[in-house]
Amino acid sequence: MIRQETIDAIMGAVRIEEVVGDFVTLRRRGVNLVGLCPFHNEKTPSFNVNPARGIYKCFGCGKAGNAVGFVMEHEHLSYPEALRYLGRKYNVAVEEEVQTDEERQLRDRRDSLLHVHAFALDFFRKSLFETEEGKAIGLSYLKDREYREDILQKFELGYSPEAWDALTARAMNEGFSSDYLVESGLTIRKDERYYDRFRGRVIFPIHNLTGAPVAFAGRILSSDRSRPKYINSPETEIYHKSKVLYGLHHARQAIVSHDECLLVEGYTDVLSLHQAGIENVVASSGTALTVDQIRLIRRYTENITILYDGDEAGLKASFRGIDLILEQGLNVRLVLFPEGEDPDSFVRKNRVNVVRDFIRSRSENFIPFKARLLIRESEGDPVKKAGGIRDIVASVALVPDGIKRNLFIRECSQLMDIPEQTLMFEMNKMLRRRLQERRTEGGEDQVTEAPPPPPQALQTRTRDHQAVENDLVRILLNHGMLDFDMPIQDQGSTELVPVNTATYILHHLLSDGLEASDPACRTVIQVFRRHLEKEELPPIDLFLNHPDAGVARLAIDLITSPHNLSANWKRHRIHVPTEEQVIRELVINAVNAFKLAHVERELERLGTDLKGPLEAVHQLALMARQNELLRKKVEISRLLGRVISH
Ligand code: UTP
Ligand code: MN
Repeated sequence: MIRQETIDAIMGAVRIEEVVGDFVTLRRRGVNLVGLCPFHNEKTPSFNVNPARGIYKCFGCGKAGNAVGFVMEHEHLSYPEALRYLGRKYNVAVEEEVQTDEERQLRDRRDSLLHVHAFALDFFRKSLFETEEGKAIGLSYLKDREYREDILQKFELGYSPEAWDALTARAMNEGFSSDYLVESGLTIRKDERYYDRFRGRVIFPIHNLTGAPVAFAGRILSSDRSRPKYINSPETEIYHKSKVLYGLHHARQAIVSHDECLLVEGYTDVLSLHQAGIENVVASSGTALTVDQIRLIRRYTENITILYDGDEAGLKASFRGIDLILEQGLNVRLVLFPEGEDPDSFVRKNRVNVVRDFIRSRSENFIPFKARLLIRESEGDPVKKAGGIRDIVASVALVPDGIKRNLFIRECSQLMDIPEQTLMFEMNKMLRRRLQERRTEGGEDQVTEAPPPPPQALQTRTRDHQAVENDLVRILLNHGMLDFDMPIQDQGSTELVPVNTATYILHHLLSDGLEASDPACRTVIQVFRRHLEKEELPPIDLFLNHPDAGVARLAIDLITSPHNLSANWKRHRIHVPTEEQVIRELVINAVNAFKLAHVERELERLGTDLKGPLEAVHQLALMARQNELLRKKVEISRLLGRVISH
């Protein structure tokens, strides 16, 4: 928990244009700054930053928010992490609220482990670049493999000397406890003697998302087949192998901007691709992706392209793992490398453009790829073919998006020369079975049908109501402070009385007992109500930086969205009045539309109730109410019509 005072201090210090400016090149346009949106691909800038309001909004993709929201979205951080980031940027000390002893201990242990790893990283790097042994053995090996020095520096490669305990002795000398050295796996204890795990190997550090080393892999330098090529750190509190992807901290920006993540097997593949300028790449470290790793990628993109360098048998063995990726809703493409090549060797032999073209032109969607492979294998063997069909349909059935599923079914039907309906039938059977299984797992032994979706008409109506609520709140936020003249009939003469917009709106909602159904809209209206009771208007910043993210998003959206009504006016008049000039009609219209929405909703409910079994008295009461509402509906519609045709 970060204290409210700290949050206030941070919010007071941040300048949205500086925060965004660290990631996006902004140019001034009027009171706003504009740039290319970092959240979607575009060639002309539609990303707006409003320094006065402290908010950003992209008119292309609709993303909007304040400085904290931007950092959360862009850097994929949680709310407290984003606040800490901003605190660092603006030198606001972020002190944590007191932790329990247990929390503090865990934190201390994690800190100690991180500390040991940072020390070891430094030691390994110095050994590689600054010692005679490191240069003669480690560095010359890497240079032979044609790695440039800037790449070795970027990935912080190192070297662990041949001596039994070079690192361990140094670390203990520096005061590191043997417990943490052993726990991190850097040191192995045997019969009260300590020695280094990674002796005589080139070191590939494995980083977490913030770029801190949390584990190491050591590659052997000889081609001695009797010893493992790589040895790796064990799992620790700061390193869970299944949740880390090698190279992600250097790749994520490029993954977002290419909207694609390349997946390779090895550390050296990542290095080589980076060296060729292809940076949207991570390594699975030789094993199938875990669900956690897939979710990690999904934070940045939905498109994953596997660069595969093994043989067909190995590929088939990895099909099950690929199904897991499909199941997570990602699009999977596949590139097969020529026999005997991996991305690392291929990059070294070919020019960058050739590599890029190769990946682009050879990549194939996984599902049709698998369909073709299965067909090829089952040529002339009907039994095998039936198995293949079930296999491919099982993969398609995992895709969560129904539209994509159907497209795949169509494609497979063509590739496998099987009627679409047959595949569809097979798939639906599987989907039903899975649904059933999931329900039984959930502890329900009865298979119940899902509730029917609301009828189409009701859905559209709900959307209309949302638009009506939004419009009212939009007027409150943008024009709540304005006054307009209201004609009041007084003993035969008409007098113009100034009325405040917010007061008028709140008065009408309260006297009819009407509430917004959308929670964010309801909150905005409540805040207005509380302030108006004190005869003041709420400051807009209150909404833009509202702790409830839904409220903040709504406010930002409504403040920056181009309004529809004046578009209507534009069509009907030569002279285009601003919203301020037509505020009276605007407000009356919006309030009436809001009332009408409520009347319609209640009428709908009544209609349903009246269809049920009812006592006669009750039925009469409901019908009386129905008549009343219908009269109201006609009246409001008439008012609305008059204002519109005015
Ligand atoms: P590779 O054998 O393809 O290694 O294993 P590589 O990274 O391409 O290395 P070079 O180019 O031959 O030097 C792929 C990945 O499998 C894991 C490592 O993560 C490696 O990068 N692996 C492999 C191990 O963890 N241990 C091993 O003994 C071998
Ligand atoms: Mn390899």
